[in-house]
Amino acid sequence: MPVTTSFAQRLQHLPPYLFAEIDKVRRAVIAQGKDVINLGVGDPDTPTPAHIVAALQRAALEPVNHQYALDQGKPALRQACAAHYLRRFGVRLDPDTEILPLLGSKEGIGHIHLAFVNPGDVVLVPEPGYPVYHSGTLFAGGITHWMPLTRARKYLPDLGAIPADIARRARLMFLCYPNNPTATIAPRSFFEEVVAFAKQHDILVCHDAAYCDVYYDGIKPPSFLEVPGAKDVGIEFYSLSKTYSMTGWRAAFAAGNRDLLAGFSGQCRMPPLPR
Ligand SMILES: Cc1ncc(COP(=O)(O)O)c(C=O)c1O
Repeated sequence: MPVTTSFAQRLQHLPPYLFAEIDKVRRAVIAQGKDVINLGVGDPDTPTPAHIVAALQRAALEPVNHQYALDQGKPALRQACAAHYLRRFGVRLDPDTEILPLLGSKEGIGHIHLAFVNPGDVVLVPEPGYPVYHSGTLFAGGITHWMPLTRARKYLPDLGAIPADIARRARLMFLCYPNNPTATIAPRSFFEEVVAFAKQHDILVCHDAAYCDVYYDGIKPPSFLEVPGAKDVGIEFYSLSKTYSMTGWRAAFAAGNRDLLAGFSGQCRMPPLPR
C-alpha cells in the first residue's frame, strides 16, 4: 500500500507557480511546431562569462572551499560585495554586519517573512510582481495587500492610496526596480517617498534589485540604499543571476539594515525593531 500523501494546508493556499505555468504553455506551443519568444522567467540564454567560470574552477580545487561557511558566508565574499556597492552605487556597507550572502535572492525573498511577519500581519506587495513576495507571505500566515502598478502612475505604487489601517498593520513592503515585469526604473524621489512612508508607519522595506545592472543607453538605475535613511528602514536583494547569466549558480546577497539582516540570518542579537 502506498502511503497517503496529504499536503500541509499552507501548500493548499499557494497559487500555482506562475513561471512553471507559463513554461507549460510555452512547451505546448513549441510542440505544435511554433517559434516562441520566451517572456517567462528571466533566464539569460547567454553563457556565464568565461572569467567567472575559470574562477569557479580554481576555487573548486581549494579544500578550504569544501567546508561550511557558517551563517554569514566567507569574509572575502562579503568584502567583495561591499566593494561592488561602493564602486557601482557609491554606497558604503560594513561587510561584517550589512551584507548577508544568499543562495540566490529567491532564498532571501521567500524566507524573510519568517523572520518578521506574524500570522495576521500585512505585507505590501506590488501587483503585478515577482510571485515569491506573496508566497512567502502565505507561508508566514500573513495577509498580502496588493499595491497596483498602473500606467497612469508610471508603474510606481501609490503609497497615499494605502488605507491607514493597512499601513498600521503592515510589517514588510516589497518593491522591485528596475521593475519586473514593467521595466520601469524608479526615480530617487520615489525611493525618498518610500523611506518617509516606512518611517512614518514603521514598515520594513525589501527592495528587490535583481535587474539593477540590466540597463540600456548608459542610464544606470539607482540602488534603494543610495537614498538617505534607506538603511534605517530596509534591505536590498542583489542577485548575480541576470547581470552575469548565472541563474543556475544561486549567487546573491542582501545588503542594508543590520538589525534586519541579523534577524534574517537567525542571529537575533538585537532586540526586535519597535512596532
Ligand atoms: C524580480 C525578480 N527577483 C528575484 C528573482 C530571483 O532571482 P535569483 O536567481 O537571485 O533567485 C527573479 C527571478 O526571476 C526575479 O524576476
